[in-house]
Amino acid sequence: MEKLGRRLYAESREEILADEREIVERILELKHERNAIILAHNYQRPEVQDIGDFVGDSLGLARKAAETDAEVIVFCGVHFMAETASILCPSKTVLLPDPHAGCPMADMATAREVKRMREAHPRAAVVSYVNTTAMVKAVSDYCCTSSNAVEVVRNVDADEVIFVPDRNLAAYVAERVEGKRIIPWNGYCHVHQGITAEDVLAAMREHPGAEVIAHPECTREVLELAHHIRSTSGMLQAAAASPSEEFILATEAGMIHPLSKAAPGKRFHPPAREPLCPNMKLTTLSKVLRSLETLSPRVTVPEGIRTRALLAVERMLAVAV
Ligand code: 13P
Ligand code: SF4
Repeated sequence: MEKLGRRLYAESREEILADEREIVERILELKHERNAIILAHNYQRPEVQDIGDFVGDSLGLARKAAETDAEVIVFCGVHFMAETASILCPSKTVLLPDPHAGCPMADMATAREVKRMREAHPRAAVVSYVNTTAMVKAVSDYCCTSSNAVEVVRNVDADEVIFVPDRNLAAYVAERVEGKRIIPWNGYCHVHQGITAEDVLAAMREHPGAEVIAHPECTREVLELAHHIRSTSGMLQAAAASPSEEFILATEAGMIHPLSKAAPGKRFHPPAREPLCPNMKLTTLSKVLRSLETLSPRVTVPEGIRTRALLAVERMLAVAV
């Protein structure tokens, strides 16, 4: 009985893998026919990352979108990332395979609220994290990502900076930039906010000697335990360059896949409770295929908003890291 069960399991797994191979083949054919590029964020499902022409962090993905000569961009990530691609490439077709893949932190700030904050602090410049809507970017002076937030704020031509929407990233920046007053927005990423120092300490006890790599969206208590604080792609460089063989990841668990590829042989552990971003996991191979077949769902930005948002996004791309 047990043997039969094992055989049926193996057979059904084989069938699933054969289906997956067929979907991947069809995606590759259509990608060629449509002159499309697939961009995937580091938190995407492993099988989705594996079909990406480029896998990276928000800054790397925006840069790739800006420089591609493909006609169609399939964005395997969340809505603000596809919107940023559309701001940069208005003539291209930008597809988000699941239209519900949003970022709850990006929805914590509206353009109307940001304008009100600006009125309350007339001398301040507005720096918005790339995890914002196009409408918010359109009322911001600068945009930044986790990999260049400190550099962008250092280069801002004002002594006061309203930093929208991540309060944890704002605190991280404030500690590293001298001579500027940072006025934080009260937003946060529920995935990174949910990683507690206790969870990280428990993982450290279980894996003594492991280095802790954290995303700057984590709380100060978690960042204080970290050996490396990096954007998602920065984590790949940190792990590859470190002499350590073992790491605890204070970030979304999808990172284990690209890290294992970038530093083969090294071991990566999530904190005691595995952090997962449900929105990042909405994109599947089947949805990517459907998206290429139907050239939908498309992400577009109205021209009046796009041209204003572009100024902030271009300033973000101009800051090298
Ligand atoms: P990165 O730009 O570091 O990839 O971060 C994006 C993000 O949404 C982290 O939660
Ligand atoms: Fe947004 Fe957090 Fe998910 Fe990143 S991990 S997309 S910040 S909810």
